[in-house]
Amino acid sequence: MRNNIILIGFMGCGKTSVGVRLSYLLKKAMTDTDKMIERLNEQTVAEIFERYGEGTFRQMETECLQKLLQEPEGQIISVGGGLPIRSENQELLKQLGLVIYLRVTAKTVCERLSGDMSRPLLQGENPEQRVQELLEKRTPIYESIADIVIDVDEKSFDVILSEVVEKMEERSDEPACN
Ligand code: S3P
Repeated sequence: MRNNIILIGFMGCGKTSVGVRLSYLLKKAMTDTDKMIERLNEQTVAEIFERYGEGTFRQMETECLQKLLQEPEGQIISVGGGLPIRSENQELLKQLGLVIYLRVTAKTVCERLSGDMSRPLLQGENPEQRVQELLEKRTPIYESIADIVIDVDEKSFDVILSEVVEKMEERSDEPACN
């Protein structure tokens, strides 16, 4: 297993925001798979979904993980909310490093993402129901691959970060921050 730190969790759980803060704190580079895909394809995630469909985007996510396995270790990697669903990706995530699951409730997701236009999967008639359905389907998968689980509802970034560091230190003999 590589020594990257991977952040997984549902849309709106704060993976990118926590990842950026963690990268400052631990002085590690940060990569976000959605941003990587957008950069490599020069299109937004929404455009990729619209032009080529979800299947193509999911394939791009797998290729992203394969690329990251070839890159130098020691990165913070935040991944799109649906990436861990493919079983192939679950294996790749485990190979990449320590998987931290930011667990969020449907209520918080709906509050945070109300009016969001950037997430194609939530643009239908009843986004609340969609969030509920996707969350129910995905939660067991997130939990099955997580090394560390952090509940994030109603917590500040400072609290989330200190829980992340504390749980990482419990698993290792070394301090997480130097
Ligand atoms: C998706 C989550 C999004 C993005 C795409 C699909 C999903 O990323 O990858 O819209 O299937 O949950 P975030 O989790 O960063 O919003």
